[in-house]
Amino acid sequence: VVEQTEYLVDGEFKQWDGDFKKVYSAIKVNNNGVLEDIYLGKIPNGGLNEAMECLDAAEKAYDNGFGYWPTLSVEERIKHVENFIKEMIGLREEVVQLLMWEIGKNRADSEKEFDRTIAYIYDTINALKELDRRSSRFTIEGGIIGQIRRSPLGITLCIGPYNYPLNETYTLLIPALIMGNVVLFKPPKYGCLLHYALSKALQKSFPKGVVNYIYGKGAEVIEPMMNTGKINVLTLIASSRVADQLKKAHPKVNRLRSILGLDAKNPGIILKDADLDLTVEECVAGSLSFNGQRCTALKILFVHEDIADEFIKKFSAKVDALKVGMPWNNPIITPLPEEGKVEFLNGLIKDAESFGAKIVNETGGQSVGNLFAPTVLYPVSEKMKVYHIEQFGPIVPIVPFKNLQEPIDYMIESDFGQQVSIFSKNHLEIAKMVDGFVNLVSRVNVNTQSQRGPDVFPFTGRKDSAEGTLSVPDALRSFSIRTMVATKDSELNKD
Ligand code: G3H
Repeated sequence: VVEQTEYLVDGEFKQWDGDFKKVYSAIKVNNNGVLEDIYLGKIPNGGLNEAMECLDAAEKAYDNGFGYWPTLSVEERIKHVENFIKEMIGLREEVVQLLMWEIGKNRADSEKEFDRTIAYIYDTINALKELDRRSSRFTIEGGIIGQIRRSPLGITLCIGPYNYPLNETYTLLIPALIMGNVVLFKPPKYGCLLHYALSKALQKSFPKGVVNYIYGKGAEVIEPMMNTGKINVLTLIASSRVADQLKKAHPKVNRLRSILGLDAKNPGIILKDADLDLTVEECVAGSLSFNGQRCTALKILFVHEDIADEFIKKFSAKVDALKVGMPWNNPIITPLPEEGKVEFLNGLIKDAESFGAKIVNETGGQSVGNLFAPTVLYPVSEKMKVYHIEQFGPIVPIVPFKNLQEPIDYMIESDFGQQVSIFSKNHLEIAKMVDGFVNLVSRVNVNTQSQRGPDVFPFTGRKDSAEGTLSVPDALRSFSIRTMVATKDSELNKD
């Protein structure tokens, strides 16, 4: 049990005077056939006054760009981050346990999330050293000698997602900090307790006011903060709707840099000559790892009608064989942390059934509490909600197609543009599709599932799916701006 009664502001932990939010596990206990919540702890429930205190501290630390942190050398900032890594490594088991209990992520994936985050931070440090080497060079042009630098942007509001409460949050937080920005950090709704231990490590490693923690709901705390006009960078991984709402609250949105990872509805497109065994393998992992709760998941499969029956048979068999259970046994399907998620998923299934789709796998449609069996729906068509909406859960809608233009039109008309996966052995056809899709989405996968990593590849999206680019080293550029120091060539040649 983690009971957090304080919050980090201006380099110190201050007692929280307001009320608290109780945190329950994604895992429920079975008490004589009744599923009951497990209490995990509490965190501050949010308050505008405390958030404003954090904003004041951040303003002071940044001091309009003249503060200690934004003017510190890159080498010095790296030292702070390296100190943080040392502290963080000691928290591995605590964080892994909380990932399992708070959001139901299986042990192997929780460990991977932790280790991936450490690797990401090291890679970011190395990428910054390289970027800095280039920035330290001088350029002479037209009688002007100039040094092009990368400078911070200012006060950064950072909000991470519940599905990667550690890793994705830190892919925002660390690049923001290391580039000299100061941060107001809001832990995600689920997966918030693990940030308490980490906040202590941050406090030990960074100067005062550089990282401050805020709590509370969008309309009550975050929007009023945006409304002050003092936030220079909004970075969040959330729904496109939340991002729009927060941006609208900023009085000078043209001055705001937004670095956002948002909704996606990535299709898998399976041509009739696809290698079915490989395709099934990739599509099961792509659509159902961590219950399909990944923005990068394959969220709809378009299958050529000539192979649809065979594909569905193989796909459903694999889906039914997926291990379902509790995180410590490393199953793929685990309890869903989001309140109301089971009802939402059942609603999508009912809606699809009312328009003629059927559950085609044996275990599909079943649930025990918030443990939801992976469900394959076929044939799905545009009349159904699940054709358009991001399910972010263990439902796989399959759409038969005759003409390749049908899945292409789906992506053209979609509001989203993160990734596509194409499965085929016809290299000419693949090449044609790749050339078109790279103009519609930000990553085209060939004979492989959609995903974010490896983290050195750019992570972004088109249309409503993203703004700015994350990953190493792109995030360093996203959280900074190119600036220049210039003088006349003749000035430097003076004695
Ligand atoms: O939720 C979106 C994540 O960025 C997915 O990351 O593809 O590494 O699981 P992943």
